[in-house]
This record gives sequence, C-alpha cells and structure tokens, in this order.
Amino acid sequence: MELKQQAIEILRGNDRGGYTLPNATGLYPAQWNWDSCLAALGWAQFDESRAVAEIEMLFGGQWPDGMVPHILFHGDDSSYFPNASVWQAGPTGRSSGITQPLVAATIVRHLFEHTSDPSIRARLTALVPKLLASHRWCYSARDPHASGLVSIIHPWESGMDNSPLWDDALNAVEPGRPVAHLRKDIGFAAAEHRPTGPQYDRYINLVIKLRHDGYRPDRVYDVAPFRVADIGFNAILQRANQDLRLLLAAVGDGAGAGEVAAMEKSTAAAIAQCWHEEDGFFYGLETRTGATIRKPGIQGLLPLFADAGMATRHPRLVERLESWLARVAYGAPSFEPGRPEFEPQRYWRGPVWLIVNWMLVDGLRHNGLADLARRIRRDSLALVERAGFAEYFNPLTGEPLGGSGFSWTAAMYLVLAADTE
Ligand code: DGY
Repeated sequence: MELKQQAIEILRGNDRGGYTLPNATGLYPAQWNWDSCLAALGWAQFDESRAVAEIEMLFGGQWPDGMVPHILFHGDDSSYFPNASVWQAGPTGRSSGITQPLVAATIVRHLFEHTSDPSIRARLTALVPKLLASHRWCYSARDPHASGLVSIIHPWESGMDNSPLWDDALNAVEPGRPVAHLRKDIGFAAAEHRPTGPQYDRYINLVIKLRHDGYRPDRVYDVAPFRVADIGFNAILQRANQDLRLLLAAVGDGAGAGEVAAMEKSTAAAIAQCWHEEDGFFYGLETRTGATIRKPGIQGLLPLFADAGMATRHPRLVERLESWLARVAYGAPSFEPGRPEFEPQRYWRGPVWLIVNWMLVDGLRHNGLADLARRIRRDSLALVERAGFAEYFNPLTGEPLGGSGFSWTAAMYLVLAADTE
C-alpha cells in the first residue's frame, strides 16, 4: 500500500468516533490536546468534516474557566498512568488538570481558509469564541503579572516532557513517592526511549500537588513548584494569537480581534527580550527564580514559526539551525547535537518529531527560507519512507522510536507529502 494510503489507514484505525488516539497500542488511550489538533490537519487532507469534529470534541472538554486540558479521557484508560482516577480533575473528572501548547487556533484558521463548504465554515465559526476563551485563560492564569510571557506549571504542558531545558527546574521539585511500579508507558515503548524514573517521580508528585490545590487557576501559578516561561510554548502561542486575530476579524468580531492584538503585542515584545545576544539563540526562563534557561533546544528555534521577520532580525538563529542539520542525517533534532544532554533516542532530548518539523517548514517559508524548509520537508518524508509512522525518530540513524502507528506522524506525512513547494 502506498504511504499516503497507509497514513489515512492509521488515522482511521486510531479513530474512536470523533477523536483520534495518538496511537492504538495502549500507550496513549485518550484524546491528547495537541496530538488531536495536529491530527485534524491530517484528517483535513481527505475528510474535512472529520477534521472539524476532532476540534469540536476537544473543545467539548474545555473547562468553564477556558482551559482546554491536555488529556480528555473518553473511554477505558486503564492502560495509562496517570489516568482520570489519579488526576481527579475538572468538572467531569474525566480530564487532566493542565494544558498543552495552544495550537488549536492555528489549525482552525488553516481549516477555515482551506474549506469551500459553508457548513464546515459555520462549524469552525462556532469554535472561534471558545478559542478566544482559551487564550484569555492562558494569559490570565499563566501570566498574572502581564509580562507578555505565559508560564507552564508542569513539563507535560510544554508537550516536550523530558527536554533538557526542564532538568534544573524539575530537579528542584521534590521527587515524592517512587512511581516506577505504577508506570505503564514502558510496557508499550522501550524504557531507553522514554523519560527516566526520577523524572517520572517528579511528574507525578507535581500532579499530586496541583490536585491538592484543585487545579485552581487563581492559585496554581503561585504555588506550583515548577514554573517556567518556555520559549517554545510562547512562540506557539504567539503564532496562534496571530491566527486567532485573523479568525476573529474574519467572523466579524472586531473587539475580540483587538483584544488578541494586544496579547500579540505584549508577547512579541517579551519574546524579543528572550534573545541572548552572546549565544545567538532564544531562551526561556524559570519564572520562580528569574533564571535564564541557557540550553539550546528546538524550543529556541520556534520563534521562526511565530514571526515572519525573525530570520531577517536574527540571521544567527538560522545559522544555528543549519549547523544542527549539518551534524545529523535527518533534521531537525529536538536538542543541539554534540551537547552532553543530547540523547538521540530519548523522547525530547534529541529525536526528530514531525510535528515540530511541520512548524519549522511553515515558519522557514514565511521567513523566506524556502531551501531550508525543503531540506526539513525532505528529511521528514524520508524518515517515514525509511522507518514508518513512528512517534519520533533518531536523527543520526533514522531509527523509529517510541510508539508505532502514530496519528500525528501520519497526519504530518499527509500534509508534507501534499505540499508541492
Ligand atoms: C505521556 O504520558 O508521556 C505524555 O507525554 C504526557 O502528556
């Protein structure tokens, strides 16, 4: 079967009636926030209505305060730890109590602009106020002092769980009780591809602490033992701000568009402040201590996705990406190769993720860097051709890593393969 058809079959096979499992082996038996949004982009290649349903179902789990949880548990979650009974979160008790990168507005704008079907457009229009509520929540709950940078309160919120960028902030968190005996992920994926035991202990201890505070948005910012203004999370949010502003204008909500323009302005200024002149790179910070997180992760390249003028302002950022690409067989690695923390097999400490590649391809093109975008697109397709629809890939060898039959890899393959640039 040709790869495009295989990708379609993966999405169909992982479909659970309105939401798509990240994969169907039991590793992730629920609806994950950014997995779902990015899967919708793949669905849109062959079934627009199903793509919209994915986002509708995700926003069906939006909390009254506007937060869209990072996991919605719709069915049997017994193969996952921590499942709904551990989280005990939200109005229905069937979600996690934290969020994930806010990519939804970017995806909805894409669907909105690509459809010619008025009924699809009407359904997308109905989502726009919910998107606005989620951005409002993000700024009010996670940037209460209006710095322009929002903070995450758990590494899982970054979507890049075990990135070396969180090592210091996470090590400062109490490990709590060991959870090695409760972990289920390493029954489905190789332990050496996954976060370590000490990281897991702290992930779960953070959940317990947030649960203790009822996940209250007016409290968790102050009490969270882990609090980081991730440059990646903020860059993705900034891109989504632009997409949301354009959507609001398109649906005739001028006041909403103005409100988001103000968010965008303050975040643009704050991201500009994250530029580290000496290193020629973007870094986030620990907002509990003010310490700069001086580590070169893929997060620091995502301002290219947020701003079409970034490469002109900071050509050294592009040179840095080129230097990473020169050191791997397949780009883009999620952490700078050659650094002591770089691990080409372990989750977000080095492997290539096609969803990030899609963001880079898009950002590089908007920055006028078509050749570099082509290289990353070509590597992405080559990885799937070589190794199938893995969760992530070794940048040095192309080896498939993590789970198999992955929805967002299939989705990104469909999107990038359809691309003719
Ligand atoms: C996991 O369980 O590995 C997820 O990445 C958390 O969201």
